[in-house]
Amino acid sequence: MSDVNDAELAKFSKIFAALDEAGRKKLVSLSVKKAFAKDAVICREGDPGTEFFVLTKGTVSVSADDFGNAKALATLGTGQFFGEIALLAGQPRQATVIALEPVEVVGFPRDAVVEVFRAAPQALTLLQQTSLVRTEETMKKMME
Ligand code: CMP
Repeated sequence: MSDVNDAELAKFSKIFAALDEAGRKKLVSLSVKKAFAKDAVICREGDPGTEFFVLTKGTVSVSADDFGNAKALATLGTGQFFGEIALLAGQPRQATVIALEPVEVVGFPRDAVVEVFRAAPQALTLLQQTSLVRTEETMKKMME
């Protein structure tokens, strides 16, 4: 990634603000900026979770398969992250994330994220809390 530095990353999302500068720099050095057209699938339910994403532009929908129908779970916007559940649980993706408009994300490789967040307990706690809240929310929605 050439045009987002560690200070900008900290401004994008509080999860990165909770990391120290060295951790952010490491993640930035391994990150990949990606653009997606409207309706493009950014990650798909059931796929392995090899990447963690931060939305730097645009909005995405999050949905999960409900007996063959896509059940809407959430809409995420600039500054929000996704892909943390598979990463933390070491399990396949729990949902499909689709661009609702032209979208830009920064992707970080799983192993580096795990390493950097393990060394920053406060940031790891934030990530785990979000993951838990979202998992509970998904369970509730799937039972509606
Ligand atoms: P993961 O399961 O790795 O990949 C799909 C992502 O969608 C997931 O991580 C979360 O980041 C996100 N996600 C899943 N369920 C919800 C939800 N209920 N609300 C918001 N985001 C969610």
